[in-house]
Amino acid sequence: MTEQKATNVHWHEGDITREHRGKLLGHKGATLWFTGLSGSGKSTIAVELEGVLYEMGVLSYRLDGDNVRMGINKNLGFSAEDRVENIRRIGEISKLYVDTGVILLSSFISPYRADREQVRKLHEEAGMDFIEVFVDCSLGAAESRDPKGLYKKARAGEIKNFTGIDDPYEAPNNPEIHLNSDKQSLAEEVALILNVLRERGIIDK
Ligand code: ADX
Repeated sequence: MTEQKATNVHWHEGDITREHRGKLLGHKGATLWFTGLSGSGKSTIAVELEGVLYEMGVLSYRLDGDNVRMGINKNLGFSAEDRVENIRRIGEISKLYVDTGVILLSSFISPYRADREQVRKLHEEAGMDFIEVFVDCSLGAAESRDPKGLYKKARAGEIKNFTGIDDPYEAPNNPEIHLNSDKQSLAEEVALILNVLRERGIIDK
């Protein structure tokens, strides 16, 4: 748990609430948290889903490991400590998006169960939906896809602490959605996610 460093700070409540913003947009905000190995398909699914939601008139936004690491988290690497801080920051950012009413699609390896649970807790304490989507894919399949050529480099010892090779990945025990990206089609995966959003009353289309 990161300690609160600043003292004498007070939360300032406004007049317009999350409920007001939800009415304005016509749907609730929520975080869909995609977790899985590099190359498992997290970002591909999020991109597809973002397009489908857009066509339905639902506002979503994607946060993605590589992109975020080129901006707000550019000072973080892949040590265990940095990965923890990476996910802590994304958790807080996700919460801000949900508060605006957006459906946030967060795609991060997020290899540690405890960190994902921390983000879940953060959302649940604020009464926000947190939907963990496990993009399950065998290491063999992810490695054979190797879209960025990183597994090849990791096997050659050119990248250290690479998830799945010489760094751990802790699979979720109870994800809300469990996809098998080496067996299901993209359309099937998107349909499964949309159903959960409907069941939970986040969208009504
Ligand atoms: S996380 O572990 O902290 O959640 P994150 O999702 O932000 O990782 O970033 C993962 C992406 O960074 C991978 O998809 C890959 O493109 C790149 N990457 C570079 N080095 C590593 C590494 N050592 N382990 C995992 N991913 C890496």
